[in-house]
Amino acid sequence: MALATASRYSDPYGRYYTRGGAAEVLVSAMGRAPKGVVIDLGAGDGALVGEASRRWTDVRFITVDIDKNAGSSRLLEQANSSFSHHVADALDAQLAQKIGLDVGVAHSALCNPPYIRPRWRSHFGQILEDARLSGVFPHIKCVPADILFIAQNLRFLRPGGKLGLILPDGIIAGEKCGALRHALTTEHRLERVIELPRRMFHGTEAKAYVVVLTKQGKSADVIALQRLEADGSLTRPLDLPVDEAISRLDYSFHCAPAQDVFPRRGHVTLRDLGATVARGTFSSSERSACDFPVFHTTDFTGTGVPRAFHLSKARAETIDALYAEPGDILVARVGRNLEEKVAIVERGRVALSDCILRIRVASELHGEVLKFFRSQAGRLALQTASHGVGAKFITRDALLDMVIPGCRA
Ligand SMILES: C[S@@+](CC[C@H](N)C(=O)[O-])C[C@H]1O[C@@H](n2cnc3c(N)ncnc32)[C@H](O)[C@@H]1O
Repeated sequence: MALATASRYSDPYGRYYTRGGAAEVLVSAMGRAPKGVVIDLGAGDGALVGEASRRWTDVRFITVDIDKNAGSSRLLEQANSSFSHHVADALDAQLAQKIGLDVGVAHSALCNPPYIRPRWRSHFGQILEDARLSGVFPHIKCVPADILFIAQNLRFLRPGGKLGLILPDGIIAGEKCGALRHALTTEHRLERVIELPRRMFHGTEAKAYVVVLTKQGKSADVIALQRLEADGSLTRPLDLPVDEAISRLDYSFHCAPAQDVFPRRGHVTLRDLGATVARGTFSSSERSACDFPVFHTTDFTGTGVPRAFHLSKARAETIDALYAEPGDILVARVGRNLEEKVAIVERGRVALSDCILRIRVASELHGEVLKFFRSQAGRLALQTASHGVGAKFITRDALLDMVIPGCRA
């Protein structure tokens, strides 16, 4: 079955399986063992329920996966817990009948949802509505599977039931998901968000987070944010006031020294400095058709722009597209290690690919702005402002909101 109209990753079922470490963190973050039914929609090879069954007893696990080869079906053979597996579409309108479980009765749910955009079906509106999430996405018919899976889990949980999720960066920190974060923190009790290191999932480098919430739990004043470090230790929790959750929920952003990231009174942002940020023009197919060089993210080699990309003023003026001039600062907009990809145009004019952002500020500020982006604080600001699923990316507004230490407006 063609499941998705457009996949944000390459796998049609969004099968990015959890490695053991993330499952352990998720299950232990959920706290006390539940008694009763635990569901896992999109169970894959059973990494999450497998870990839970090692820690929880007297639990009936119900797993669902659309992929008939998913290994969770074989958990039946492990005798010490009760497992029943169903090959089914977890977003099916008749899921309750198919798995023999009424909505509103599960004690807990575990889920690492697929990262795909399923074709819209009319009953999705009801799934979202039942979970009080129908207003959270600007274009409801484009709602991604991860949000639908959150909603479906919330429907199947009883009030007070715990939901342990593994979610991508976009939901935790993306601008488009502010309304979802607001709903999850006001309609439910969002307890913990733990940032995981990259490369914790098979087949993807995407950044992901463990999220634990209680369905319709009394809203807390603060949410505990943590980060799992590369050595396996967890940072001390950072208490984020609930009303700040709408902005973003990632530990690395909130623990960064405020002057490095947040615009605060007395601190001057690029926007305050009158900077403009523009995006380059040429897509990769257009680039290869151009008879002049176009600077791209793979062309950052040092502090400046290599000579091979220098165009004369007269040549640049014949190009019907945005280009950079001496003094412009270029920053990679997408890709890995984008915090290391910053350069200043020293000579000539430079045509830009659509993966490059051009920062233009008054000439007396070039030195300070460049110094900031080259500093540890600047790299951290770029790193924390960039988010996205699969590839990291940075928006024009995120750049303009960066505080440039030592500058006056
Ligand atoms: C990101 S993987 C997670 C697998 C497993 N829970 C883990 O953490 O390793 C998502 C899983 O969802 C399954 N899936 C995708 N679409 C589905 C659907 N509509 N209904 C049920 N399962 C689905 C995929 O086959 C895949 O096993």
